[in-house]
Amino acid sequence: MLSQEQNDALTRAGAGTLLGDLFRRYWIPALHDWELPEPDCAPVRVKLLGEALVAFRDTEGSIGLIDEFCAHRGVSLWFGRNEECGLRCAYHGWKYDVTGQCVDLPSEGENGPLRKRIKLKSYPCIELGGVIWAYMGPAELKPEPPALEWAHVAPERRYASKRLQECNYLQAMEGGIDSSHVSFLHSGQLRTDPLFKGAKGNVYNEADKMPHFEVVEFEGGLLVGARRNADNERYYWRITPWIMPWYTIIPPRGNHPLGAHAWVPIDDEHCWAWSINYHPARALSESELAAMKSGAGIHVQYVPGTFIPRQNKQNNYLIDRSAQKAGTHYSGVEGIAMQDASLQESMGPIQDRMREHLCPTDRGIVMARRRLLQAAEANRAGKPIPGLDPAEQRVRSCSIELPRDQEFKEHARHGLFAPLGTDPVSV
Ligand code: FES
Ligand SMILES: [Fe+2]
Repeated sequence: MLSQEQNDALTRAGAGTLLGDLFRRYWIPALHDWELPEPDCAPVRVKLLGEALVAFRDTEGSIGLIDEFCAHRGVSLWFGRNEECGLRCAYHGWKYDVTGQCVDLPSEGENGPLRKRIKLKSYPCIELGGVIWAYMGPAELKPEPPALEWAHVAPERRYASKRLQECNYLQAMEGGIDSSHVSFLHSGQLRTDPLFKGAKGNVYNEADKMPHFEVVEFEGGLLVGARRNADNERYYWRITPWIMPWYTIIPPRGNHPLGAHAWVPIDDEHCWAWSINYHPARALSESELAAMKSGAGIHVQYVPGTFIPRQNKQNNYLIDRSAQKAGTHYSGVEGIAMQDASLQESMGPIQDRMREHLCPTDRGIVMARRRLLQAAEANRAGKPIPGLDPAEQRVRSCSIELPRDQEFKEHARHGLFAPLGTDPVSV
């Protein structure tokens, strides 16, 4: 349970808020690189941390991420003409370059005084791992590019999708930290989904619905270990890293690719759920890619031409009560991602955490909240914050069987902090 004040602090991401200022210290996944496929292509609306922006790739290939609205009379530059190294407003032709500087103000003529004064806010961007990342914080504090493993594997080893989730980022992210729901909500899907089925770990997962949680801090975040009984007097550990400020990595199953998430606030009542499958040591197979593109595993099908899931709030996520009764889908909703999203959206746009009753399996969630608040306070006080150093982001999930007397933080270390290009440790 949280106080109203804590819940407000943790769930608000706008400029000037406690967490909003923290989030602005990190590189933020903003859009797929293919959303801006070529110079002078169509601009894209981008809303992040409550700020309405527009992204464009100029004639020279540079990316601009600037205020969505024209400084003249507030028209959306999404309607603009992307031409000759700038985005020109469709209303009266004011034109802006990738830094937001007004470079042409036709009504004033060449070298007028007003044009020089007009500059929209703009944020620097980088392209890495198929994603365009934005930095929205103070220029002098810009960190190194992200070192998350999925952003550094070869393109053929990775598949990334994103979907709109109609709720606050925190309740979505907390679903990524809480792996105790897997034994219930996803139980039917574990047996059938092509990207999950067949692993020995699934048997342990289903047999022991009372995992014991152990949460260990590391520099960049938390290692959330879920322990279940395994054969031969051993324990089966599934270890989910949570990396500041909003990344989670699902523990692997068999030789399936790893699944990673980023839970990025669009505004306080919507977030982007980025879902990335990657295998650190091999290319994804054609059948895996086909499954991902068809919406299996952690991916979804879309309303055509959008990032809105085909199963959504308006159609009750196409819930199938007979599948619920038969147990093929525990909740009756099809697909891992929408099983999660449907329940998380059902909590309301921002979960009221004054009314929750946490239990021992929620330990990871409690600690992640605490880490976020501590980091945000440190940031406000001008002190160092965790997870900015690339070395603190280079962690991956693992699943492992260990003798009962061995602690995961020591004996699973080789699986969590592994060199790039090595096989995952997985059961
Ligand atoms: S509103 Fe954009 S040029 Fe007038
Ligand atoms: Fe889930």
